[in-house]
Amino acid sequence: MQKITLPVLLEKRARGEKFAVLTAYDYTFARLLEQAEIEVVLVGDSLGNVIQGRDSTLPVTVADMVYHTAAVKRGNSRALLISDMPFMSYASVDDALHNAAALMQAGAQMVKIEGGEWLAETVYALTQRGIPVCGHIGLTPQTVHKLGGYKVQGRDSSGAAQLLKDASALEQAGADMMLVECIPSRLGGELRAALQIPLIGIGAGPDTDAQVLVLHDMLGISARLPSFSEDFLAAHGSIVAALQGYGQAVRSGQFPAAKHCFD
Ligand code: KIV
Repeated sequence: MQKITLPVLLEKRARGEKFAVLTAYDYTFARLLEQAEIEVVLVGDSLGNVIQGRDSTLPVTVADMVYHTAAVKRGNSRALLISDMPFMSYASVDDALHNAAALMQAGAQMVKIEGGEWLAETVYALTQRGIPVCGHIGLTPQTVHKLGGYKVQGRDSSGAAQLLKDASALEQAGADMMLVECIPSRLGGELRAALQIPLIGIGAGPDTDAQVLVLHDMLGISARLPSFSEDFLAAHGSIVAALQGYGQAVRSGQFPAAKHCFD
């Protein structure tokens, strides 16, 4: 099995080959994702919701992320491993460097940070020091109170223009990958066309380079199934078959279908 690195993902993008991303939070699921040949594993701060039972990602700490990243790393030898930097852990460039180092030392191969052009200096500082960065734009759950809820972003023309500006500012600052959450499908396609780096979507339509879902959502075991997700366990009968089914559905473009997308 080919080891998934950043250059491998860039080649996939250049060839128009889609790849699958899933969250994982522990050793056992990391092994199952590996068995299912999922290309990228994200230790998401969604662990606040699905592992800790919190009502947002805000209480998640760097220590939590380090603990779960180290556990996932022990079960993963192939996928690219991304870890989320939790709320306020990158409020200053110094904080970002210090906390990203802790995640990388725990086994992350890339860190993900939520926000737009204001993060350009931070992205530059991290990437210049050899820490690959994935930007996260659109619906950014760490700013849920500022957004006034978990709402689709970029529906009006100024919101859409701002997201395009955010994406290119982060790319120009050195971001290696971009994740966009809950935006209209048309804007997902525009973002992909505007970027050279791989674009991962969640609730962002079919025209991105990759799709990501929260593991517990796609297994149908989280408290509530978001409309952009799908219960793959119900359709496939076993956990590994569900993970494999998801990977195949993403690579073939069958997922997401119209019912998972926003206008
Ligand atoms: O924390 C998380 O799980 C995420 C999602 C967008 C996949 O960032």
